[in-house]
Amino acid sequence: MAFTIAIDGPAAAGKGTVGRQLAAHFGYAHLDTGLLYRATGRRMLNGEGAVEAAMNLRPEDLGAPDLRTPEVGQAASRVAAIPEVREALIDFQRAFATRAGGAVLDGRDIGTVICPDADVKLYVTAGDEVRAARRLAELTSTGHDIDFQTVLADLRQRDARDSARADAPLKPAEDAILLDTSQLTIDEAVATAIAEVERVQAAR
Ligand code: DC
Repeated sequence: MAFTIAIDGPAAAGKGTVGRQLAAHFGYAHLDTGLLYRATGRRMLNGEGAVEAAMNLRPEDLGAPDLRTPEVGQAASRVAAIPEVREALIDFQRAFATRAGGAVLDGRDIGTVICPDADVKLYVTAGDEVRAARRLAELTSTGHDIDFQTVLADLRQRDARDSARADAPLKPAEDAILLDTSQLTIDEAVATAIAEVERVQAAR
């Protein structure tokens, strides 16, 4: 049976971690849709046109080593504002979402545009300083030399661009469950998300 969980929210709110662990818990497949935009942004930084890059994206592009850098994140946010780029990535995401066996997708427009009929929609958020501190720890642990203020400014700039764009802006779906992880550990956030999914499944 197809069961789709849509997770949206701003940068570094914990969507990826919650999505990955939800998928592992329920035995569903997981797609971090930010990777599609990061891989497109990566190819644009290499000199390719953004729309062409999105149309020609290959599975191996999603495994490129440096997709998590702030530079690629900014490029992803810029290409994500181009309607033709988003259009080129829709079919792949929808096919993934409706695969048999269940799927979890995380991004910015999953509950609003990609999967408006998702079985469960979560909007995962946290204060921007909390998110910046978490992203800083992640970047520092992977050997990046960057300071808190730079990370905070980067997140704020991306959130502002992602929320203000005309096409599929970042916003909670009307029927999304809000999950603020500011005061939660990873385990608590994941446990809350699992409980919400089980509540929906029990009501079926
Ligand atoms: O989730 P992330 O930080 O890896 O995403 C990188 C950028 O990609 C983000 O700033 C906006 C864009 N994005 C998007 O527009 N829609 C999605 N579903 C996922 C990401």
